[in-house]
Amino acid sequence: MSRSAHPAGPRHADVLTEGHYSAPPADLNALDPKVWSHTVSRTGDGVVSVGGLEVTALAEEFGTPAYFVDETDFRERARAWRTAFGHDADVFYAGKAFLSRAVVRWLHEEGLNLDVCSGGELATALSAGMPADRIAFHGNNKSEDEIRTAIETGVGRIVLDSFQEIVRVAHIAQSLGKRQRVQIRVTVGVEAHTHEFIATAHEDQKFGIALADGQAAEAVRRALALDALDLVGIHSHIGSQIFDMAGFEVAARRVVALLAAVRDEHGVELPEIDLGGGLGIAYTSDDDPREPHEIAKALSEIVTRECEAAKLRTPRISVEPGRAIVGPTAFTLYEVGTIKPLDGLRTYVSVDGGMSDNIRTALYDAEYSVALVSRTSDAEPMLVRVVGKHCESGDIVVKDAFLPADLAPGDLIAVPATGAYCRSMASNYNHALRPPVVAVKDGAARVIVRRETEEDLLRLDVG
Ligand code: LLP
Repeated sequence: MSRSAHPAGPRHADVLTEGHYSAPPADLNALDPKVWSHTVSRTGDGVVSVGGLEVTALAEEFGTPAYFVDETDFRERARAWRTAFGHDADVFYAGKAFLSRAVVRWLHEEGLNLDVCSGGELATALSAGMPADRIAFHGNNKSEDEIRTAIETGVGRIVLDSFQEIVRVAHIAQSLGKRQRVQIRVTVGVEAHTHEFIATAHEDQKFGIALADGQAAEAVRRALALDALDLVGIHSHIGSQIFDMAGFEVAARRVVALLAAVRDEHGVELPEIDLGGGLGIAYTSDDDPREPHEIAKALSEIVTRECEAAKLRTPRISVEPGRAIVGPTAFTLYEVGTIKPLDGLRTYVSVDGGMSDNIRTALYDAEYSVALVSRTSDAEPMLVRVVGKHCESGDIVVKDAFLPADLAPGDLIAVPATGAYCRSMASNYNHALRPPVVAVKDGAARVIVRRETEEDLLRLDVG
């Protein structure tokens, strides 16, 4: 974000250099469609509504904090990815972004496949009726139980992440008398322009097998030699919240080069290439994400071009968007509690949730937007930091934003674009009760993941 001073903003030089804030928006009541889900708008009385329901009524019925997911928007985005990639490619939704049984059913109905990375995600997917052959199983340290369950239930592919796992999966498949379809995950050695913790294609990290120094070629050699494995392709995931397509292009080029090398060495043309997920979304008005059709076009052009040059049949492409589908479809609704103006600095606005429902700000320095949603206001903009109720000062939900200066306890504020990696990374820190996820569509709301209760917490505490 750009840094520009504002008359009501900080006056201390050290704060100015630290701050991330931009100038206040021209209209604090406006809802930028870039960051809010498609059916969000303000009704005539100034209250924000989603799926035809006002947030004041939703808060009354479901309480706060709560995540509200716009089902219509979710389905539209899932369909947009599906349509953009057409029949010659597969879209695997990355369940780690947010998974529940309702979401699995929406994905199934919209024709998407699913990527899971744990036994828990697999169980959720299967229990909601996702056909096992449309599931891919990921992870850098899958347990033997997870591998066995995946093979027994017939998952479509297991993505092999290490030399040890090649042997482990082959051994378990053989003991079950099965031949398992697998891909090998490679690290292509590109530096994705994103936060270090969510970049995954450089070599010095835990995922995948390096293309450089012939490691990936050796992995292919070993997998092809094992009868219990049906090696169908190569997988690459370069990171997350990425806007620049250059990293994907380099990845595609390097993966195709490996396919050509495999053909030359073994006479085998691997039929699949998976380019992972990682496409960025707008968290603030400053972010400009790509549309699925632009991404699909760019990826398929580069793969086709590289394959033609290498005289390879173009493999079937798959992608694994998580955030880009679910992220923009939900917001978190909070009730404002204590408001603490710090003279010359900013105003701290405490809400009834915090780092237990959104850890991304503390963990990645993520930026979010926020709006007063229970009413409009003509008051002056006030520079705020939205914080939670947890016992540490890093418990920040929105680091720098503007809200109207007449904000008062009891007002409802909402943080948009919290559909991905918020409920799925939620914790019980300070014995917080994880908020519900409520799906809203065409004037109806229903809980798809219920709020945790104190009984839930005590049930686990068996000492
Ligand atoms: N495929 C693989 C193999 C992945 O590891 C991931 C994400 C995805 C697909 C989906 O990436 P997406 O399209 O959602 O960016 N907790 C972090 C993000 C971690 C992503 C981990 N892997 C965050 O909150 O930003």
